[in-house]
Amino acid sequence: MQRPSDDDQVLLVDALSWQAHYCTGRGSPIAARICQAVAQASQGVLRDEFPERVRFGDLIGLRVMAAVHRLALERQAPRVAMHLPTLGGTPPADARSWHNFDTAVVHALQEHPRALAWSLEHVPQTNETGRAVLLRRGLSLLGALELTGSVRLLEIGSSAGLNLRAGHLPGNPALELGPMPTIIERRGCDLNPIDPTTQDGRTTLSSYIWVDDVERFARLSQALRVAEQVPATVQRESALTFVNAVSLQHGAVTMLWHSAMWLYMSIDSRQGIQRRIAELGQQASATAPLVHLSWEWQPGGEDTFTLVLRAWNGRGHRGEPMLLATGASHGSPVQPVDLQPIAQDPLDLQPT
Ligand SMILES: C[S@@+](CC[C@H](N)C(=O)[O-])C[C@H]1O[C@@H](n2cnc3c(N)ncnc32)[C@H](O)[C@@H]1O
Repeated sequence: MQRPSDDDQVLLVDALSWQAHYCTGRGSPIAARICQAVAQASQGVLRDEFPERVRFGDLIGLRVMAAVHRLALERQAPRVAMHLPTLGGTPPADARSWHNFDTAVVHALQEHPRALAWSLEHVPQTNETGRAVLLRRGLSLLGALELTGSVRLLEIGSSAGLNLRAGHLPGNPALELGPMPTIIERRGCDLNPIDPTTQDGRTTLSSYIWVDDVERFARLSQALRVAEQVPATVQRESALTFVNAVSLQHGAVTMLWHSAMWLYMSIDSRQGIQRRIAELGQQASATAPLVHLSWEWQPGGEDTFTLVLRAWNGRGHRGEPMLLATGASHGSPVQPVDLQPIAQDPLDLQPT
């Protein structure tokens, strides 16, 4: 099935059918079935809840899947919940129970039109803690680079700020080269932060996990428990405003980290952030070093992300980009790379 372009206006039923096809290809049969059931009902009993056409890039299927998952998580749709793997349910076993599942999905949305409308209006937002293994790799390397001392961990595009707690999240021992340093500050920003310590924030994050993806759901659940114990601040502001206000601190390593957010920013914001990092790099010293660590899409590669570290300490480190790992967006699988200097920083490249 051909993927339309993001800006194409497509029939809702086609957008949902495409999402069902995509979920099937990704090994998520129940998520696919939700999209199929709603696609069919959107031409019947759910007709009034949907526009006829949608912008394809708004990924309406993800919004519908989240609405259904949310109702199940909130115990508003028990006949759906009993079949969702993320909630310990068992998938329908035969044609009759698949049919009953379809009916339960459609009924849940009919009974809760406001929940559906809320979901249709909101951009899907996740916070992938699988990426914490990359941040931990960067943190574990600081000692080997003689960037010693406690770390102020600053993050742009933090979403719920779960990865600011990376020191308390599971790592991959094969990727770590030393002990975790002490983190003395955990602070980030997002245009739309989610508070993972509230019930609403937890449910929102959980609802965006696909209903078949038990592993990712368990990873998120664990991170949400950590968030209750380990405080972090996520300010509601743009990455550029946040970075412009960063200053270095004597006696601590200031580490700026980001993952899967660079492409969302305008060229002006990216250039402004790079200018501010360069200024801070000039000010950095042995007692107030700066580190910039990113896990971002590698232009040209379909789902290839690269972990790149740049450090400044007024002496040996002058911001040269060093490659630490490559891998898939969510942080698995990952291939470690031994601090390989690279000629071209991937953040300088425009997307192709
Ligand atoms: C794909 S999510 C990644 C979230 C998180 N970094 C992670 O790896 O799970 C991208 C995040 O960047 C945020 N974002 C996009 N543009 C931004 C900007 N200009 N300033 C701050 N946050 C931004 C979005 O709100 C969203 O939470």
